Amino acid sequence: MSLDDKVGQMTQADRSALSNVSDVAAYRLGSILSGGGSAPSPNTASSWADMYDNFQRQALSTPLGIPMIYGIDAVHGHNNVVGATIFPHNIGLGATRDPDLVRRVGQATAEEVSGTGIDWTFAPCLCVARNDRWGRTYESFSEDPALVSQMSTIIDGFQNGGPSAILATAKHYVGDGGTTGGRDQGDTQLSEADLRAIHLAPFRAAVQRGVASVMVSYSSWNGAKMHGNKYLITDVLKGELGFSGFVVTDWAGIDQLDGQSGFTASEITTAINAGVDMVMVPTDYKKFVSLLKSEVQAGRIPMSRIDDANRRILTEKFAFGLFERPLTDRSYTSTVGSAAHRAIAREAVRKSLVLLKNSGNVLPLAKAGGKIFVAGKDADDIGNQSGGWTISWQGASGATTPGTTILQGIRDAVGSGAQVTYSRDGSGIDSSYRAAVAVVGETPYAEGQGDRTGSMGLDSTDLATLQRLTASGVPVVVVLVSGRPLDVAGQIDRWNALVAAWLPGTEGRGVADVLFGDYAPTGKLPMTWMRSADQEPINAGDGKQPLFEYGFGLGYATASPSPSPSPSVSPSASPSPSPSPSPSASPSASPSPSPSPSPSPSVSAGTGGCAVAYRPNDWGSGFTADVTVTNTSAVALNGWTLQWTFGGDQKVTNAWNATVTQSGRQVTAANASYNGTIGANGGTANFGFQGTYSGSNPAPAAFTLNGAACAVR
Ligand code: GLC
Repeated sequence: MSLDDKVGQMTQADRSALSNVSDVAAYRLGSILSGGGSAPSPNTASSWADMYDNFQRQALSTPLGIPMIYGIDAVHGHNNVVGATIFPHNIGLGATRDPDLVRRVGQATAEEVSGTGIDWTFAPCLCVARNDRWGRTYESFSEDPALVSQMSTIIDGFQNGGPSAILATAKHYVGDGGTTGGRDQGDTQLSEADLRAIHLAPFRAAVQRGVASVMVSYSSWNGAKMHGNKYLITDVLKGELGFSGFVVTDWAGIDQLDGQSGFTASEITTAINAGVDMVMVPTDYKKFVSLLKSEVQAGRIPMSRIDDANRRILTEKFAFGLFERPLTDRSYTSTVGSAAHRAIAREAVRKSLVLLKNSGNVLPLAKAGGKIFVAGKDADDIGNQSGGWTISWQGASGATTPGTTILQGIRDAVGSGAQVTYSRDGSGIDSSYRAAVAVVGETPYAEGQGDRTGSMGLDSTDLATLQRLTASGVPVVVVLVSGRPLDVAGQIDRWNALVAAWLPGTEGRGVADVLFGDYAPTGKLPMTWMRSADQEPINAGDGKQPLFEYGFGLGYATASPSPSPSPSVSPSASPSPSPSPSPSASPSASPSPSPSPSPSPSVSAGTGGCAVAYRPNDWGSGFTADVTVTNTSAVALNGWTLQWTFGGDQKVTNAWNATVTQSGRQVTAANASYNGTIGANGGTANFGFQGTYSGSNPAPAAFTLNGAACAVR
């Protein structure tokens, strides 16, 4: 290899910067990239593949015929390509606590990327976001380095060893998520011990998984720019951790070394001698090639460093089959946006949802009956629900790519069983609706443009929408679409339920899957949820009192209530006391002994021994009822059965927290396995059910508990 060949291998240019496609050969360019939104026209999978092959043929035409490697930010699916499957951003994947699912997300992404020819993704971000003000918080799996490390399985998905394998990139090395004030590209002021414990740990995991490349962070460590940090790049990453792949800079990252715009020979020398192997120039590649060559010829960059960089780059090109299969494998092109991949994305959406509040078990919503009101700027907007790095660098509101909005998912879930009304700003809500779903939160942003140095609350549009809904008296379910925890403590009391949906991507049906109980929520917070913005940074173990702790997440009182009518339904699953909005810890209902469901004959509540509160919510043809049984006797109850007679033609269709059966107008509710014990002197048990009726819907006039009459409250 000539010096020109070697210098060319270390040079990466953006496709849009090429003055002529033949420059790939003329300058022996080793790599091309698409920065966020840098796409061919038309933006279709096949035109991406054609573009890739065109560049590759140029590279193969050089004397040595070394294939170029093409990199792109496929950070939540192949997100530059219209029609690609867009998965939840990393913060949502962290909430799933499912490393194998995340590996499958990586595998599916690799297939779609390969189908467009591209060989290399600048993902995963293994950033440990410690301050939610940071605009890249959503690119982080978690504030917890251990959880981030667990999710490095996505690398195995990307680099899956098969024909669709693509290079992964562990980024941004190191400490990007720990900057003071959460300022993007800022300064991470930490001891080396803390830097290693918090921010280096995920890179150790990535290197152990054989990650092929590492991207250097724009940020600084104790005032020193990472792009020039030889100790951390060469001694620690390559030496101590044994990283054998290649190190690439961030976009024009070396330009920042001297604090001036543009790059200089000195900055090039500093970065290469620090251990950088490839430079994402990405525009003035001609100047870069010239300066790098002259720095080597002047002896300021030893040839050994150049050879080491080339060895690393070429080894990965060989390992990933670029020499054997340099052109697009068109057999994968049809996987872009495929139903199979969208199914994985929908599963990821379901599992990413974190149920933070569920007063009166308003969730899951019934599919059948009555009217449901949907509002909010994020309800019917693929762009908003996908967030940044979607089709364009910053992302954008609107129908930017094919997918299913959260509203469409709700409509699909209920079908003709209920009426769904959508009003973006909530106007038109009234008490005839049995529930209101407000999908609110953020609009797309990326990197520093998403930094929030001031308030972290909902915007005025959302607050006005929510005000309309809560003023109507209809139960309000808030679905929060955001790239981070937001400051909602001042409003949450007026909400009946709150679901953190993060940035779900194109498969909005996954939200409805949980809202209507086809799947119970299983997500757990990957970030501590602030009580107020001035607590940031707030992280587990720092002694601050959050609104919701790291790891918090509720389930449903029932496993997956059959939304369709059934003669009698049984509850199950773990209890889910809906906490007050300031649980100091995730509610830990001590597991009550599982009493026999049949009432114990030893104690009858007896007249005066019990009281029942029956709270219906009626929408004209259907209703739900929330029932609280109070044991006013001096003896605890172990197992209970509540009975009553309907005064009209009410029919129970589904229930939660109890097994409810009906014979004619006689109804029997028997305790669930977890709420069979009702403490003495005021202990309570709560259950609910949904029903239909025609004509009138009178509340039952009398109840018996274990055969004894109760007071009615
Ligand atoms: C951006 C980001 C980095 C991305 C690169 C290429 O500025 O910091 O995450 O991979 O440039 O788009």
